[in-house]
Amino acid sequence: MKKELLFFEKDDFYDYKELKQSEGYAIVSISDYLKDIGNSELFDNFDFTTTIIDISALASGYKEIQSLAEQLLDKFHQFEAIFIADKRYEELLRYELRYCFICFNDVEFSEKLEKQSKEKSQQSLLPSKKHKKIIDLDDDELDVFFSEFRQHLYGHEKFKDEFTELVNNFKIFNRLGEHKILSLFLMGESGVGKTEVARTIYKCLGGKKKLAKVNFGNYSSEFSLSSLIGSARGYIGSDDGEIFIRVRDSDVGIILIDEFEKSNATLFNYFLDVLESGKIISSLADEIDLNGFIIVFTSNISKEDFTHKISPELRSRFDYKGLFTLLYNEDKLKFVEFRLNDIIRKYNLTFAPQLPQNLLDYFLVQIDVSKFNNMRDLNKKIKRVFVDYILKQQYQDYEIIEDGKVKYSYVKRLLNIFK
Ligand SMILES: Nc1ncnc2c1ncn2[C@@H]1O[C@H](COP(=O)(O)OP(=O)(O)OP(=O)(O)O)[C@@H](O)[C@H]1O
Ligand SMILES: [Mg+2]
Repeated sequence: MKKELLFFEKDDFYDYKELKQSEGYAIVSISDYLKDIGNSELFDNFDFTTTIIDISALASGYKEIQSLAEQLLDKFHQFEAIFIADKRYEELLRYELRYCFICFNDVEFSEKLEKQSKEKSQQSLLPSKKHKKIIDLDDDELDVFFSEFRQHLYGHEKFKDEFTELVNNFKIFNRLGEHKILSLFLMGESGVGKTEVARTIYKCLGGKKKLAKVNFGNYSSEFSLSSLIGSARGYIGSDDGEIFIRVRDSDVGIILIDEFEKSNATLFNYFLDVLESGKIISSLADEIDLNGFIIVFTSNISKEDFTHKISPELRSRFDYKGLFTLLYNEDKLKFVEFRLNDIIRKYNLTFAPQLPQNLLDYFLVQIDVSKFNNMRDLNKKIKRVFVDYILKQQYQDYEIIEDGKVKYSYVKRLLNIFK
């Protein structure tokens, strides 16, 4: 028998999760264990000091709850393990699991948690607080935003002009309640800055956490919609769909959908709805309001495939559809100069002696930008040229061995500069 099962109110789940995370716990859904029930290592490695199990999923769809739970819970060897479940299933679980747990209680609402959730609920009255959105910027802030955006993203001047106009229109029509989400569909070759557009918008809007990014390359199977928005049998908390987790974990009103063309018609239709309604709705009808958000879709498909693969309804919903062409040499050169200056600056902050002045020119002659179309390859070349230079100088790699372990390696620290 396990010690106790704790029930939580659905609305408190995220506060509880955050609190427990700050105490070093991760909350994992029982369905992750159910999927892998034959894997005894998974259960042997279970650590009750760092993991809490949410068993709500057991209550929502399984027939033989009692015998399934008995079998399953036995596999978690620690008596002390913490199990939690949604209070909506309390009656059922109290009955079915009466032989599995010694007692049933509610999760303890410490003062800290109550205070946190009070602050949260005050905040949630003002929905714009959580995600910083482009529509919230005043004219001066928007000027700064555009100037930084133009500076960070090299080339693509036409796109930048059009984007400026789109955002200005979006601000007006959004206020009139006629335009909820600004959607951009960016096509073009690899490594020319499609994804970088979303990263740059995120940074220029002051993002401090993580850009909400979903890669549709992982969503090509028929079950993809349920992984994206949560499965019907699953549960809102720990079984949440990826897109909800990503949006909740982010602090800026932008979503990046990478490799959009890799998914299937079900997901295309779902997004048709999202763009139309301005919200994402999970399989259990929880929703997040995306009013004022930007969604950037990126894809490697050609212009011809765009018309074949994406339905006319969806195509017409995108506010901007653009083909990103290869960068001009002068833009690539700006990219190289920026990267090299950054690397030299970081090197000088980390190592002594300082690098000689005018080193930039020495590097620039060794990199022929016209040979590179993909900026990732160009980035690799920059690293190679830099590391070659450093290793050719008096600097040698060395290691300090302490307790039989390598504690310090010059090259390792050098490579850290590129992170
Ligand atoms: N126009 C650009 N301005 C600034 N940086 C760029 C630009 N293009 C590419 N980069 C740099 O190159 C890297 C790769 O670019 P990015 O991820 O945007 O490629 P992509 O066009 O999305 O390619 P893929 O189709 O392979 O995903 C970025 O991390 C960024 O550092
Ligand atoms: Mg990309």
